[in-house]
Amino acid sequence: MCGIMGYVGPRPASPIIMQGLKRLEYRGYDSAGIAVAADGVIQIRKAAGKLDRLVEAMAASEPSGAIGIGHTRWATHGPPTDANAHPHADTTEKFAIVHNGIIENFFELKEELLAAGREFTSDTDTEVLVHLISDEYDGDLAEAVRRAVKRATGAYALVAVAAEQPDTIVAVRMISPLVIGFGEGETFLASGIPALLDHTRDVLVMEDGELAIITAEGITLEKLDGTPVDRQHMKVDWDVEQAEKGGYPHFMLKEIFEQPRVVADSLLGRLDGTDVILEGVAWGPAFEQSIEKIWITACGTAFHAGLAGKEMFEGLLRIPTEAVYAHELRYRDPIVEPNSLTLAISQSGETADTLAGARLLHERGSRLLAITNVVGSALTHYSDDVIYTRAGLEISVASTKAYTAMLVAQYLLALRLGQSRGVLDEARARKVAAALEALPGQVESLLKREEGIDEMARFLASKLADENDIYFIGRGLDYAVATEGSLKLKEISYLHSEAMPAGELKHGTLALITEGTPVIVVNTQAHVYDKTVSALQEVKARGASVIAVAYDDDTEIEHYTDHVLRIPRTLDLLSPVLSIVPLQLLAYHVADARGLEIDQPRNLAKSVTVE
Ligand code: AGP
Repeated sequence: MCGIMGYVGPRPASPIIMQGLKRLEYRGYDSAGIAVAADGVIQIRKAAGKLDRLVEAMAASEPSGAIGIGHTRWATHGPPTDANAHPHADTTEKFAIVHNGIIENFFELKEELLAAGREFTSDTDTEVLVHLISDEYDGDLAEAVRRAVKRATGAYALVAVAAEQPDTIVAVRMISPLVIGFGEGETFLASGIPALLDHTRDVLVMEDGELAIITAEGITLEKLDGTPVDRQHMKVDWDVEQAEKGGYPHFMLKEIFEQPRVVADSLLGRLDGTDVILEGVAWGPAFEQSIEKIWITACGTAFHAGLAGKEMFEGLLRIPTEAVYAHELRYRDPIVEPNSLTLAISQSGETADTLAGARLLHERGSRLLAITNVVGSALTHYSDDVIYTRAGLEISVASTKAYTAMLVAQYLLALRLGQSRGVLDEARARKVAAALEALPGQVESLLKREEGIDEMARFLASKLADENDIYFIGRGLDYAVATEGSLKLKEISYLHSEAMPAGELKHGTLALITEGTPVIVVNTQAHVYDKTVSALQEVKARGASVIAVAYDDDTEIEHYTDHVLRIPRTLDLLSPVLSIVPLQLLAYHVADARGLEIDQPRNLAKSVTVE
């Protein structure tokens, strides 16, 4: 989730843009830059690292001019370096752009442009766009941008300036957000409302497929096909902090509701029919067919995502898979057979235990694939291959959207390995691919049932809020989800909870189940559905109060439970992406009911970079 800021008006653009970028720091970034047009020249300053490095770069010579664009980058393609920072210019430096999103077909476009003699200065997907604009330019920047984006596919917010048109900014929104702010004889543009609030509360939110021609006097808003758009402005009454949370009370809730976009972004450009394209994976089919063992190592939520991966890789691919906590693995003496693949899963890519565990397996000959959310993080330096989760900055310590993105990354890997190893035939691969493609919409529809699921979660939370021990149970993939649901609850509500395989209850824990003990069961896996119901009956017989997570069309479950949190039906293999959502909301509402901090829980850090 990159930050974008633009300005055109009578005042110097640089200070306004830098202030806007500062307001967007909360979105996370690893590099930043600014481009200002004046007297037929575009001046660009950019730097990897924090905004202070850009400030230093500007101190030497601040670009002067009354029109400009700025960017804070959260890398998805290409490590965070000065060259990869935005803005990007064409070879003649007559055009500069900033971009937030992913260009799916950038590889083909780059090949085309290189063949046409274009020189690239970065390894970002963004840079292809400025060369396309330069290609298409015949005196009208808006037309050049319109023609350029027609050649690109993906999700983007694109903002361009031209040296020859120093009074106009052109912006296009295709999924990634863009908002325009109106001042007195000046106009602002940003990727988020917080960056506008120092100047105006009179804003217009661009919608997908729209192009805005922005001058100091105001804007012309059109569809990409040129059809004029007449959109009402809105008055923003949020303060900056509320704006940073997108109007949500906490970052955690905002990030839960970002999951449809995150699941879509994690799939973007990686699924073509049943073909799986993993841009950061360098191995070929021969290696894929040679794999005899998969290791998965991680901590916390990432480990829970790996537990689901273990079920997936063993169940679907029939490859022996071991999911082991990194803090355990690093002090073991693991037997690493040849032809093994290690998945090290880490949102931050900086977790000390995970780095240590991953390196141990790598040193013993296992090929190391990092599944991480941070481009250029420490884990990626040790790894042979990387799959980025594209969840954007996750601010809340309690990980939510990164978890679902980690699941999607593993599904894509399983789909690819299954086909190359001949264990997934075309028909089954098509079913899995179709179900994956449907997930963003299903998560969206699930979250849109806010009255239902949010209300139910709030109601149940009020019932749970003073319980001391809450149990999460499930079998197979449902157990993997139960572990994550339990962690979410305990780490933000400070109530004790534990997850266990449903079949394990009778081997001891059942002794703790008494009248009213809350038991939360995840029951979506058809092949063990009845067995999980047996476990439900065991706890009900002891007076437990049971909440189930089950499919919409499950008509049996309410006979055995007190409450049901329902999810849309999908392949059982993919159900964790959906069944975790009500448990995330339940944890959130219990913590909220207890009046707790939520985004920064006591004793915890977002990334545990020490042992
Ligand atoms: C999860 O909500 C916690 N924040 C924590 O368990 C976290 O998942 C764990 O520390 C691993 O972090 P990582 O994914 O950055 O490696």
